[in-house]
Amino acid sequence: MDTPAWSTAELTERLLAEMAQFIGPLPSAFDRAVRAVPRHLFLPAVIWLRDGNGGHRPCDRGATPDEWLNAAYSDAPLVTQFTDGLPTSSASMPSMVLRMLALADLDLDPDLEPAGRRVLELGAGTGFNAALLCHLCGDEAVTTVELDPTLAAEAERNLKAVGHTPEVVRGDAGAGRPAGAPYERIIATFSVDRIPSAWLEQTEPGGRVVTPWNSAWCGGYGTLVLTTAPDGGGEGRFHDFASFMPMRESAPSAADVPTEDGATPERRASSALSPWSVAGGDLNAEFHVGLAVPGACCVWDTSGEHAPARLDVADDSGPSWATVDYDGHHADRFTVTQAGPRRLWDEITAAYAHWESLGRPSVDSYGLTVTAAGEQAVWVEGPAGRQPA
Ligand SMILES: C[S@@+](CC[C@H](N)C(=O)[O-])C[C@H]1O[C@@H](n2cnc3c(N)ncnc32)[C@H](O)[C@@H]1O
Repeated sequence: MDTPAWSTAELTERLLAEMAQFIGPLPSAFDRAVRAVPRHLFLPAVIWLRDGNGGHRPCDRGATPDEWLNAAYSDAPLVTQFTDGLPTSSASMPSMVLRMLALADLDLDPDLEPAGRRVLELGAGTGFNAALLCHLCGDEAVTTVELDPTLAAEAERNLKAVGHTPEVVRGDAGAGRPAGAPYERIIATFSVDRIPSAWLEQTEPGGRVVTPWNSAWCGGYGTLVLTTAPDGGGEGRFHDFASFMPMRESAPSAADVPTEDGATPERRASSALSPWSVAGGDLNAEFHVGLAVPGACCVWDTSGEHAPARLDVADDSGPSWATVDYDGHHADRFTVTQAGPRRLWDEITAAYAHWESLGRPSVDSYGLTVTAAGEQAVWVEGPAGRQPA
């Protein structure tokens, strides 16, 4: 590598300033942790940067060392692994990592030694967050789990190289890590749409589970902070940020494979609901639809092949689908075709109407309750109290 144009100390100062602009002044313990954990030591020689067109381009430390190092100390997520053309691991955006650590409420005292909390991180990636946790809580307090064995080995190597030796476990984080339970904090760095029961079982009463959320409709959006109850259940609220890749499955489940349903006829109708209302970038509306219409996903077709603009809707685990066409002239009515056992557009229309009737709540009005029996229910809180989302 050629001599870089900046020292890592200068770049760390810049990163700290960039993060503080975004999330406000950092607690001194976080400031010290970021200074103590050089992010570039947790990155592979090739990372992928956003290309400005919705995709990624590789950035090779050997070929463009300044760009690589500059990226390492930018407040941005950096993709560190692609599988079958899709990003499957990244070094998370540093300010996002710190916001999640703040939500975990590690009870840090800036004048004390590491807090000594038992913390389970899920999704080690290349190990940066685990290193911060080691710095904050002490190595013995930290366990991190990674599904991908190559990444787990990389995380372990990177952590060792900066002097940290937490327990790095290769395995499916859906099962948590029973051997080290109970934990005071569980922090996932991938998104889920349900809390695996193991996470609650392995968190001590009054402990916290912090996890990014996702839905088929909305993708990764929102972070849940759940406090566990003595009876084994828990309750918590969503916060309005975080965009994390979804939890990977060890193997595809039968439910992931759509089945054919040629018997259900198509139905055409007109709809007054604009597809842009539910898939045009209003994250609060999209978050609600994602919670209320599980499994529904969508993609825009602007090729003009079928209509000037079409929203293609599908059930991610079944044969139902819908299309919503804009004719290029009328913004108050759209042609809808639906097929399959679920009338997806009808479900979405009802969900959107409910969201409007609730006063268009934002993500932080929502919460999740898990009962002792493991039932999970998302609710939304408004002037009239709580109701199902
Ligand atoms: C955003 S990356 C991790 C970022 C990392 N914690 C950091 O500090 O930069 C998410 C990681 O979760 C891992 N992951 C996804 N599903 C998993 C699962 N079921 N079990 C364990 N790890 C999983 C991915 O392989 C990926 O490395």
